[in-house]
Amino acid sequence: HALDQNSSDPHLPLQWPDGLVLVGKEDDIKNSQRITAKVNGREVVVFYHEGKFHALDSRCYHEGGPLNLGEIEDIAGQPCIVCPWHKYVITLETGEGLYEGINPLEPSPTPRWQSKGVKQRIHKVTVNNGNVYVSPPDLSVSFDSDYFADKYKNNGDLAVKKKSNSQAAE
Ligand code: FES
Repeated sequence: HALDQNSSDPHLPLQWPDGLVLVGKEDDIKNSQRITAKVNGREVVVFYHEGKFHALDSRCYHEGGPLNLGEIEDIAGQPCIVCPWHKYVITLETGEGLYEGINPLEPSPTPRWQSKGVKQRIHKVTVNNGNVYVSPPDLSVSFDSDYFADKYKNNGDLAVKKKSNSQAAE
């Protein structure tokens, strides 16, 4: 009955038996277009863009910039978040880092968007009954953004646990 206990506080994420974490109401996120939430201690940003929900680690894989404050742009036919710190471009759908490169061997080299591969961890979003859930990360696979997700965890739930433990190492 976790739902009953916490229903008075809409900010408390609810953990479901299958690990899905409630991050908000479908209507609220559609209105605000983006929210941040804690999923298993890590900061995640959920975007609603052109009829779809996307969840990514909120800290940019480059140096930890706040992607929740970035602009969404369509680049090479894909919706991307542009990091506000150094303008790295990350696809919302796959978490790929894109860069504009030139092939000097072409007769008239033109810059083209290319992928560096998946750099930012994306998270599965489930919408059910007007609620939006994010699946917990599969940590058997790692991504560059994990480094900053771990680093910024210290500002959140884990830091609180550490203090109460009285053996905080730092
Ligand atoms: S921190 Fe995001 S581009 Fe540098």
